[in-house]
Amino acid sequence: MSLLLVEDLRAGYGSLEVLHGISLSVQSGEAVTVLGPNGAGKSTLLRTISGLVEARTGQLKFEQESLAGRQAHSIPLLGLAHVPEARHVFAQLSVQENLMVGGTPLPSRAARMDALDEVLDLFPMLRDKASAAAGSLSGGQQQMLAIGRALMSRPKLVMLDEPSLGLAPVIVDELYVALGKLKLAGLTILLVEQDVHTALEFADRAYVLENGAIALSGAASALRDDPHIRELYLGL
Ligand SMILES: Nc1ncnc2c1ncn2[C@@H]1O[C@H](COP(=O)(O)OP(=O)(O)OP(=O)(O)O)[C@@H](O)[C@H]1O
Ligand SMILES: [Mg+2]
Repeated sequence: MSLLLVEDLRAGYGSLEVLHGISLSVQSGEAVTVLGPNGAGKSTLLRTISGLVEARTGQLKFEQESLAGRQAHSIPLLGLAHVPEARHVFAQLSVQENLMVGGTPLPSRAARMDALDEVLDLFPMLRDKASAAAGSLSGGQQQMLAIGRALMSRPKLVMLDEPSLGLAPVIVDELYVALGKLKLAGLTILLVEQDVHTALEFADRAYVLENGAIALSGAASALRDDPHIRELYLGL
């Protein structure tokens, strides 16, 4: 059963249509990556799924329920979290306060404290910095905080928009070790990445978006061997 189903989705900004009929699905427990050149519409796709951009036609279903007409703020409550390209941590708040904001949908303080403990186990660096202002963290630490904050609500599916952007390779490795643990624990992940090699190593399946349409899709391992991908994205 598809956890997330996107069918013939069209969306854009004003008179500009960016997504020209996108169809894709994410099964429960899968890691799926969406690749594509700058401006292809990857971020717009994630924004439309999370209700920040209006879907013009087509269907969006999460757990077989339509997302049509839902307000953006109600989508995370369904268990669908989105970590946008710009990390948007609350710079003045401490690391722990940022995480607690993410835990708002949970029913009790005890539940929030349990979730906090799990996130701090996943990203031990955040435990060391729990009282530090989020604005004082490095780019990589802020990315981990943004992901940690999304995890606090215990989502079923998390959408990550270019988590490795601007990070040093050693930090990217650290980040993907954590994402691998989440995947093993059963979290479903929809990943937009500019680091094609890392994304295809990590994901089970991939879609390639070009000019707002799906140009190619398949098992990540098959795409790694695809001449088009190797030439266009891997420089091989
Ligand atoms: N807020 C906006 N208003 C108008 N046009 C926008 C807006 N955001 C994006 N666009 C346009 O929509 C198209 C798709 O942009 P989008 O950000 O979805 O691409 P992307 O695949 O995420 O690119 P990147 O790899 O650079 O992040 C581009 O032509 C972009 O200029
Ligand atoms: Mg983008």
